[in-house]
Amino acid sequence: MLQGKRILLIIGGGIAAFKALDLMRRLRERGASVTPVLTKASEEFVTPLSVSALAAQKVYRDLFDLTDEAEMGHIELSRAADLVVVAPATADLMAKMVHGHANDLASTLLMATDKRVLIAPSMNVRMWEHPATQRNLKTLTGDGVLCVGPNEGDMACGEYGFGRMAEPLEIVAAIDAAFVDGPLAGKHILVTSGPTHEPIDPVRYIANRSSGAQGSAIARALLTLGAQVTFVTGPADVAPPVGVKVVKVQTAREMLSAVETALPADGAVFAAAVADWRVATEATSKMKKDGSGSLPSLTFAENPDILATVSQMAKGRPELVVGFAAETDDVIANATAKRARKGCDWIVANDVSPETGIMGGSENDVTVITANDAQNWPRMTKDQVAQKLAQAISDALA
Ligand code: CTP
Repeated sequence: MLQGKRILLIIGGGIAAFKALDLMRRLRERGASVTPVLTKASEEFVTPLSVSALAAQKVYRDLFDLTDEAEMGHIELSRAADLVVVAPATADLMAKMVHGHANDLASTLLMATDKRVLIAPSMNVRMWEHPATQRNLKTLTGDGVLCVGPNEGDMACGEYGFGRMAEPLEIVAAIDAAFVDGPLAGKHILVTSGPTHEPIDPVRYIANRSSGAQGSAIARALLTLGAQVTFVTGPADVAPPVGVKVVKVQTAREMLSAVETALPADGAVFAAAVADWRVATEATSKMKKDGSGSLPSLTFAENPDILATVSQMAKGRPELVVGFAAETDDVIANATAKRARKGCDWIVANDVSPETGIMGGSENDVTVITANDAQNWPRMTKDQVAQKLAQAISDALA
């Protein structure tokens, strides 16, 4: 799929710049050509010689390099590409993109380009979580900038958390996805998935049996049709698909806040099995037996209903909102009432009674309920349900 594609690769000044060398190799193996651009800071991490050797191309470094301007001006350079990739995208580069700075070659190219831009952020976890960076990310994705990663893990600075740049093969997959010119190209779709964990004390929590398999499959199917997917997931067993923007959460309240941050979206699919209740007063230290044999009691508070909140938004509601209804009795009647009560457009009803093997299993048997229709789909794999649903979403948003 990358054969003949021209990638303009802007390498930012971060420790992950070394991974950009491998990225170039992987892209060239797949038949893409890579034109590398180094920022001044990135030259502290990789040398122009190694970059040009791996790209098999001239490295562009300076806005005021007159030879380059005579050969190819910065406007042409930014437009000759099919896709602009920024890897690593530092906090500083992201901020520059948001504010439209054009004070060096990399930022000027990003301003001048008429092509899609994909960023692979990389920074310290505190910098990533800083409200300024999160605001910038929201602005950039709202502007249509694609994003892959960052991942969670150990960082070069010794800390742990989100901020590691996505691995080269993950970036390649996101680049691949950026070229998919499917029917959902240009559409942003939000998917929630997995269970939520509601803490009781620092070591215990309340959870449910959702594996996240159906949500992951839906995100993958939407991606395959060319959508830009934000995937908000609780602690699931099944890994998120490569190429989506992953936001990991634990609790229902965190999930709501991540969903609100990810909007606007053209469509939203709420496949998460959100805990309806949380413990009202989470203990700050581990609850202990006191030796008297007396049993603790838990008081619950109701969690926000994310699907209902988004379905009933007065402003900025996605054009199509799809919910799931996990039922054990009177599946269709309950799901039909649930659709009306929550205010979503469609509800995908499934019977999660233990004997169906659906929760945690690989198959699903669903009925898709709309305002004036209920369609039962024969039992099929969760991947097939996802593909059929993604196609229906694509038809509805066409
Ligand atoms: N949902 C949500 N937020 C919640 C609860 C549920 O967004 N706090 C969403 C789920 O992602 C799903 C739909 O609402 O798309 C229905 O979830 P389900 O568990 O079937 O229904 P509940 O709202 O929990 O209703 P009930 O407990 O009455 O079955």
